[in-house]
Formats: sequence, structure tokens, C-alpha cells
Amino acid sequence: MGFSTDAIHVGQEPDALTGAIVKPIYQTSTYVIEEMGKSKGYDYARTNHPNRQALERTITKLEAGHAAYVFTSGMAAIDSVFRLLRPGDHAILSQAVYGGVFRLTTQLLVQFGMEFSYVDTSCLEKVKAAIKPNTKMMYVETPTNPTMIVTDLAAAAKLARERNLTLVVDNTFLSPYLQQPIALGAHIVVHSMTKYLNGHSDCIGGAVILTRPEDAEKIYFVQRSAGAGLAPMDCFLVSRGLKTLAVRMDRHNLNGMAVAKFLESHRKVKKVIYPGLASHPQHEVAKRQQSGFGGMLSFDLGSLDAAKALLNHVKLCSLAESLGGVETLISLPALMTHASIPVEKQKEIGITQGLIRLSVGIEDVEDLIADLDQALARV
Ligand SMILES: Cc1ncc(COP(=O)(O)O)c(C=O)c1O
Repeated sequence: MGFSTDAIHVGQEPDALTGAIVKPIYQTSTYVIEEMGKSKGYDYARTNHPNRQALERTITKLEAGHAAYVFTSGMAAIDSVFRLLRPGDHAILSQAVYGGVFRLTTQLLVQFGMEFSYVDTSCLEKVKAAIKPNTKMMYVETPTNPTMIVTDLAAAAKLARERNLTLVVDNTFLSPYLQQPIALGAHIVVHSMTKYLNGHSDCIGGAVILTRPEDAEKIYFVQRSAGAGLAPMDCFLVSRGLKTLAVRMDRHNLNGMAVAKFLESHRKVKKVIYPGLASHPQHEVAKRQQSGFGGMLSFDLGSLDAAKALLNHVKLCSLAESLGGVETLISLPALMTHASIPVEKQKEIGITQGLIRLSVGIEDVEDLIADLDQALARV
């Protein structure tokens, strides 16, 4: 079946008891068992419940994995993946990785004896140079948040196999509709479902998709032991969002490109970073491995003052963290999403004070461009 058919039907069969076309929300903590050793497949909602199981089935299918587990946030999902490492193990991460992942690894996981290096994974020579005898994992975000650096996933997967590393890909920015990391050779995919998978800015969630049964077993063990599995209502919301993923992403592609072109032609904008533009350094790689360029882009106004002036004058674009929703969100990574990264490190990875991140929504694009145009006039 096609992507949209799977997104609408897999895991979402009509309710066996009532025929409801939408799976009911099983808002219960526990399940009565008929007699010792005889249950209906559920016992306690931390361990599993029907809404979680349904969502995990849909996501497994859409990312073409072996199994998927959903968590209370993208960070909880990502944390579960790093628990595949042991004390003394080393992982290489994209240097411009999401700020929360930088904080998790540099401030929390290092306390448990794991080692991390942050490398520009768009240059595999640099990755090779960073591999050590104890390196076990390569963790790639592509495109990166907010610098939009693209890593060649097929080449990264080849290297990972040659050097016996687990390749983990954060697919949050594109979703499985626009990028299929497992088909390109990734072992594990992670998502902040808070973003495009849910798509409506009304819940926080994360997912891990596995290709190897032994990894799946370990992640399920973390999910039920540490207790960060996603709750019924939130699973319901993401399942509902997934049904329109393809149509939303088609519109994000169109709007993203139109806004990127508008900004690139504006005299006050110093630089636009959007993988769909020929000016993007990895445009060819993006064209090869993505089936669209999505709704995320960044642009530089050259200074913090200019950036603040724009942010203070937009009316339709909302000044807020997060991304991937139907509404357009605008933010200043240096002071917002990536504030947990020290300023020196921010500079090194290309997060300047004038860099603005735009999550282009699915409103009428003329309205978005008009809003940005009037705000740019105030800069
Ligand atoms: C690329 C990326 N990965 C992971 C996360 C973390 O997800 P969550 O906020 O759902 O914990 C985010 C959040 O912004 C993100 O942008």
C-alpha cells in the first residue's frame, strides 16, 4: 500500500467491540485479568496499552522498521537509545545536534562513563578521524537544527557498517514522508513526534524505530522499566496527526520553498539556509536522499538587533519554540532552543546571534510572505 494508505489504516483498524472507525482512548491505568495467567494482552498501562500499540504499529510501518516504541518526549526517546551504550563506550554526534541532545550528553550521560564527540557529519573524513577503538555509535541529525546541515546517509551507513557502528538518525525535520533513513542504511531512527508526526502543536512525544530485534528488546525494556512510555491521550493525538502527514508535508514543501525564495531575494537578508535552494552547500545530497525539502529554514539578518527587530514585528508568524506544526513558528536559536549550548560552541557550529529559524506552516503562503515583508521593513 502507499504511504498515505498505511498512515491512515495500519494500526487503526475499526474497534472490534463497537465498530468505531477511530480507536477509542483507553484512559485506564490497569486491566482486569480473567484468571491467573489469562489476560486480554494488557495488564498495566506503563507496560503497554492499545493506543500505544496502535501508534507503534503505524510508525513501524511508515519508517519501514522492525519495531517502534513511543515515549513521553523526543528527549526520552533519544535517552533510551543512548542506554544501548555501556560505560566506557564512545559515540560520535553531528556537531550541530539539537541543543537538548547536547545538554543530555554533555551534562547527564557523561556522568555514567559514556564519551561523546561532536563532529561535522556532513564530512565523513572528519567522522573517520574521530573514530576510536571504543566508538560504538554514530548519531546523525539531518538536516540539523537550526543550521540545516545535511549528512549523506547512504555514505554514513556504509562507514557505520565498515567500522561496526550503530547508525542512529534523527528524522524529526523531514518525517518518514520526505526521508527514509532505514532504506538508506540506518539501524535506528528517532523522532520528536511533538513536531511533524503530530503536526498540530498539541502534545509532546518521541519515537524510536529499530531494525534489529536485539535493539528492539532493549528499548522496550527501557520503556517499561523507566516508565516513559507515551500515555493514551497523547498516542491518540499523534495517531490522528499521522493520518494527514502526507498532505501536510506536501504543503510544507511548497510553502517552505516559496518563503525561502522570497527571503533569498530580500536585500536585508544576509543568508538563507534551506536545502531546497541551489545555494545550499549540500543541495545535491538533499535532492538525492529526500523526496522534498520540508518547511524548516534559517536565515541570517547579520546582528542580534536586526533579528530582534524582525521578531518583534511579525504578526502572523508566532514567536515560539518548537516546530513542525500547521502554524508558522519563528525563533531565535541562540537565545531560545539552543541557549543550552555555550556561546563559543554556538559560533563554531554556525549559530550566530542574527540567525532566525522559521518553521513554515501550512497557512496561505502569500499571507506569510506579506507578514515577513512588513516585519523586514521595520528592521
Ligand atoms: C531535531 C530534534 N530532535 C529532538 C528534539 C527533542 O524533542 P522533544 O522536545 O519532543 O523532547 C527536538 C526538539 O526540538 C528536535 O528539534
